[in-house]
Order: sequence, then C-alpha cells, then structure tokens
Amino acid sequence: MKHHCNRDLFVSELNDLLNNPEIQRMAGYEQHQGNTTLQHVLNVAMVSFRIADRLGLDIDERALAKGAVLHDFYLYNIPETGLSDYRHGVSHPELAVRNAKKVMSLNKKEENIIRSHMWPLTLFHPPQSKEAVVVMMADKYCAVREMVFRKKTV
Ligand SMILES: [Fe+2]
Ligand SMILES: [Fe+2]
Repeated sequence: MKHHCNRDLFVSELNDLLNNPEIQRMAGYEQHQGNTTLQHVLNVAMVSFRIADRLGLDIDERALAKGAVLHDFYLYNIPETGLSDYRHGVSHPELAVRNAKKVMSLNKKEENIIRSHMWPLTLFHPPQSKEAVVVMMADKYCAVREMVFRKKTV
C-alpha cells in the first residue's frame, strides 16, 4: 500500500515555521496550565501528523504544518485580556488568521484550518478539508492532555 504522509517534508515545513522569529513570539504566552502557546501548537502539529499518518490520509504536508502551527497565533495571555473563556474561544481563530497573514501568505485551505479549529463552537466556520478536521481533533486531544493530565509535550 502506498504510504501517503511524507514525514521528512512535514518536519522540514515545521522547522521553517519554528525558525521564524514572529512565530517564536508564541513562546512568550501561556495557555493550558503553564504550557507555552508555542509548545501547544507544536504538540498539535505532531499529533495532527500522527493522526493523518495512522488514517493513511493523503495530506498536504505544508498546509497541515502551517495550519497547526498558526492555529493559536493570537499572541496574548487570556487572563490579561479580561475575555471570558467563551469570548476567547469564539474570537481567537479569526485573530490568528489576521496575525498569520501579516507574517506570511495563506491559501484558502490554510486559512480554513486556522479559522475552523474551534468548531463546533464557531458554528459557521466548519472544517472544509481533511487537514482541517485533523487539526481540529488534534487540538482538542492536546488541550485535554495539557489541561487535565498536565502533560506538556506529546
Ligand atoms: Fe485555539
Ligand atoms: Fe489550540
């Protein structure tokens, strides 16, 4: 059977993103009980790849890496904003898209991966690709691990 997911390509896309100083700014923000946002998005990227690989999906490695790394590119500490969890939950995907577009170009698929990751909370922005479904699932899985089980890495 053909093996669809190219790990080397995914890891090299991931490294390009993580070497970007703008993306490194996520290391300065906390989420999920003491984890940095950068560590969280890296966890989501690795889990996303693992899910896609396990399911034998023919994925777009570049879009998956960009969508996973940029999905929480909102650049603030939630408690300092005074936003309720609900307000943060519904508003940060759009902000992440806006911030990401200041740093690099996004195609429609990449934008939708970021925009839809909180679905079904953001009811009118459902995932529209297998990459978006995978990132949405990986984010929920990682959030539970990081919050409930205090696991910082995957
Ligand atoms: Fe998020
Ligand atoms: Fe997230």
